[in-house]
Amino acid sequence: MHTVTIIPGDGIGPEITKATVKVLEAAGVPIQWEYQEAGTNALEKYKDPLPPQVIESIRRNKVALKGPLTTPIGSGFRSVNVALRKEFDLYVNLRPAKSFEGVKSCWKDIDLIVLRENTEEFYAGIEHYIDPAKSAAETIGVVTRSGSERILRYAFEHARKEGRKKVTIVHKANILKFTGGLFLDVGREVGAGYPGIKTEDKIIDNMCMQLVMNPHQFDVIVTTNLFGDILSDLCSGLVGGLGLAPGANIGATVSMFEAVHGSAPDIAGKNIANPGALILAAAMMSRHLGHPELAGRIEHAVAAVVKEGKHVTFDLNPQNPVGTMEMAEAIISRLK
Ligand code: NAI
Repeated sequence: MHTVTIIPGDGIGPEITKATVKVLEAAGVPIQWEYQEAGTNALEKYKDPLPPQVIESIRRNKVALKGPLTTPIGSGFRSVNVALRKEFDLYVNLRPAKSFEGVKSCWKDIDLIVLRENTEEFYAGIEHYIDPAKSAAETIGVVTRSGSERILRYAFEHARKEGRKKVTIVHKANILKFTGGLFLDVGREVGAGYPGIKTEDKIIDNMCMQLVMNPHQFDVIVTTNLFGDILSDLCSGLVGGLGLAPGANIGATVSMFEAVHGSAPDIAGKNIANPGALILAAAMMSRHLGHPELAGRIEHAVAAVVKEGKHVTFDLNPQNPVGTMEMAEAIISRLK
């Protein structure tokens, strides 16, 4: 039995988390959940968006499943998602983008992995107004050799383990000659140690265009924090949206699994959100916990329900949708 920290989150978080827990229980993944609150809920209750007991729980259990957490835009508390990644040094953000039969999308048969550096650069939150009148602001994006090396090595190791053929390093080293240049240099050095894998690099703007025009030319993509954030949503869009896009934040000792999407306040509390992304993230977590067969069964069940298209949420079937829990029930019935 594994003890796993679970943070239902806010917005659609509690609904999709409840659905996900039901699926995992039905699949027989041996997990005992330790519920914790973070974000706006915790701020109301404990006057702290990231209370110490959340950190203690994750540190103890080493594995967490997290629903989305709202981050106020512009002002207010800083992102709890980013704080958790920093606290546990979760330097890898792994987001697969895979086509599902039955999902309306511009491309078929996409099977990409986006690996995003998760702790450095413009997400580190080193920013301030330069004067009291707030006439200008600056953000400092620090890229280090060691930070670059560990994510790039992870990307090549992951590519090797998964039998992937190519790693594309994405950067803006033509303009950001130091930060982008360092990441690219380290990428080429690391790539040279993997002769069986083709290493190439692309400038971010061209990469966006290439992904939209001809995504099949890519395999594993590795990039810095902000570009990775944007590219992973772009890749989710290639396979039909955020509803089925899972993600993992991985560090040396702790791993945290979540959906790529956010708290979707526009549809929260209505039992209409697609639970698929968090269920697929939970499948990734089950694999990480040493249950690849159960993970595969969950993934197949999701794929079967999506392919059939009868018991899916509005984002996948706008004409005749079912609710969050009904989609989860359909997935459960396919597990058997
Ligand atoms: P979002 O991902 O929450 O929503 C974008 C669009 O996708 C919305 O139209 C939403 O209704 C739809 N959508 C998202 N998830 C869906 C699902 N499961 N089923 C059906 N439709 C779905 O992005 P947005 O609106 O930019 O952000 C809302 C909040 O979430 C913000 O406070 C943001 O900071 C936070 N956020 C949190 C993340 C996390 O906890 N890891 C990741 C991304 C955003």
